[in-house]
Amino acid sequence: MTDFLKLVEKRYSCRAYKPDSVPEEYIKLMLEAAGLAPSACNKQPWRFAVITGKEKKTEIFEHGLLPGISAKWISEAPVIITMGIHRSFITHYLAPKISKIDYALIDAGIAGEHLVLQATHQGLGTCWIGWIRPKKIRRIVEWPRSILPIALITVGWPDDSDKITGTNRLPETETIKWIK
Ligand SMILES: Cc1cc2nc3c(=O)[nH]c(=O)nc-3n(C[C@H](O)[C@H](O)[C@H](O)COP(=O)(O)O)c2cc1C
Repeated sequence: MTDFLKLVEKRYSCRAYKPDSVPEEYIKLMLEAAGLAPSACNKQPWRFAVITGKEKKTEIFEHGLLPGISAKWISEAPVIITMGIHRSFITHYLAPKISKIDYALIDAGIAGEHLVLQATHQGLGTCWIGWIRPKKIRRIVEWPRSILPIALITVGWPDDSDKITGTNRLPETETIKWIK
């Protein structure tokens, strides 16, 4: 098995973190990896807001999440990264009207996973959170209306060593078609 596949296998959604802080240098490397993602017309629509302060994290926890998930662990993560998209007119408004493909979301998804895999490489745990209130989060991170928050990514040192890893995945027959 390749080293890269081992790294991909190591990643899982971590929902329990130690209180220890994450060195800024580690976060910078993750953001660097995110910024190297490919994007339609190289428009790089992703935007990130890195939250490490307790006050803002509590605000996110109290106002930025949709109801229905038990998520105390989100506020306990040492770092919450807000991911947003900034749409450019031709690539992200005009082109999708013709193709019906949302390039900005694809681009941001790739960038986010680059970030997550770099974190995994550094021994950090992460979890994507999509069950959010974008407008509330935009206000909390003080982004302009031109940036739409699309996800949070929690980051920290894993505290779930008892977790049984190996996530269920659909059978390949359902997800892959080979055409020869
Ligand atoms: C776009 C996206 C949104 C997600 N939203 C949430 C969420 O709101 N809450 C949560 O606990 N996990 C969330 N997850 C994590 C998924 O539940 C998780 O990736 C999936 O169950 C597979 O498990 P694994 O990441 O451990 O392999 C999200 C993942 C993605 C990619």
